[in-house]
Amino acid sequence: MRVGLLTGGGDCPGLNAVIRGVAKCLILHHRAEVVGVEDGFLGLIERRTRPLPYREVSGILTLGGTILGSSNIANPFSYYKQDNADVSEQVCEYCRLIGLDALVVIGGDGTMSIANGLAKMGMNIIGVPKTIDNDLMGTERTFGFDTAVSIVTEVVDRIHTTAQSHDRVMIIETMGRYAGWIALYAGLAGGADVILIPEIEYTVEDVAWVCRQREARGQNFTIIMIAEGARTQGGDMVVKQVVENSPDPVRLGGVGKALEQALSAQIDSEVRTTIPGHMQRGGTPTAFDRDLATAFGVYAGAMVAEGRFGHMVALQNNRLASVPFEEVANKTRMIPLNHPMIATAHATGVSFGLRDFDCRIESSHMEGIL
Ligand code: F6P
Repeated sequence: MRVGLLTGGGDCPGLNAVIRGVAKCLILHHRAEVVGVEDGFLGLIERRTRPLPYREVSGILTLGGTILGSSNIANPFSYYKQDNADVSEQVCEYCRLIGLDALVVIGGDGTMSIANGLAKMGMNIIGVPKTIDNDLMGTERTFGFDTAVSIVTEVVDRIHTTAQSHDRVMIIETMGRYAGWIALYAGLAGGADVILIPEIEYTVEDVAWVCRQREARGQNFTIIMIAEGARTQGGDMVVKQVVENSPDPVRLGGVGKALEQALSAQIDSEVRTTIPGHMQRGGTPTAFDRDLATAFGVYAGAMVAEGRFGHMVALQNNRLASVPFEEVANKTRMIPLNHPMIATAHATGVSFGLRDFDCRIESSHMEGIL
């Protein structure tokens, strides 16, 4: 059996752990030959692959990034280097030519949408869910998320002490695209006073009110966590850039600065903004992400051996599972407003930037999956 392996979309801590998990499982237990595709789908389009023997995947568990490289603009159904031509037939033909029996794609929703299209054309594909954003449908966790949350939590801890020293209002802008998972989890872990997420539209007036209330209580500093996709009531998301032809063309960014300006006009304290940016995606994965990524990889290897194609590996009710690509493609998993962490934040006095916001804080209501 010959199995191709690629990493698509933006990189994420734990990609190498998955590569290692899939490859070791297939090489050691199924005598398979593993082929690495370079730079995501770009490698399939440009016909760039290389053998991935055991020694290549050994010693990479803790490495950040991806040994295969990745691309978040290459899409075989709309190839940016050839006037957005559909080159999917050529991709399938190349996979047949090099004798691939199956392909494992490690990526986010863009990658899963492409995988869904190729699966419909008859390719034997399995997906593994990757993204620091934790926003993939069908799985309650993606690997990389835990690492991003740890990094942002450390940022909050460090910002906390300097905010206190200077009586400042400090804004921290996180990644996460259209969902607020990173901001919510890191905000809670770091003890942020305000957490602004795309799922709950905020008002600058209510954020200013929190800062003033804290000051009135003698707490002269405020920590505000804002997800890049957060927006004011009736307002728009702040877009930094549009990357033409990318499966995910809109790049968000700048919402922290926008809030800094609006808030400065309403309060006396000095307001400053910190953006951890791509630090959230770089470096070694946490222990949890190494374990999750390895288990996802091995599970994907087992699925290949069993011929269970057209599915993405998933975590459901804290168990390994799989979901059909159809249920994942082109969807975003936002934080449901009845999520236990929303209730946890609300119950501990965290503001979502909306004075009227309320949610039930009952044990029965809080029994959902974390
Ligand atoms: O999806 C991962 C992610 O890091 C998002 O949180 C962020 O919006 C986006 O990718 C940034 O993409 P790029 O690295 O292309 O700027």
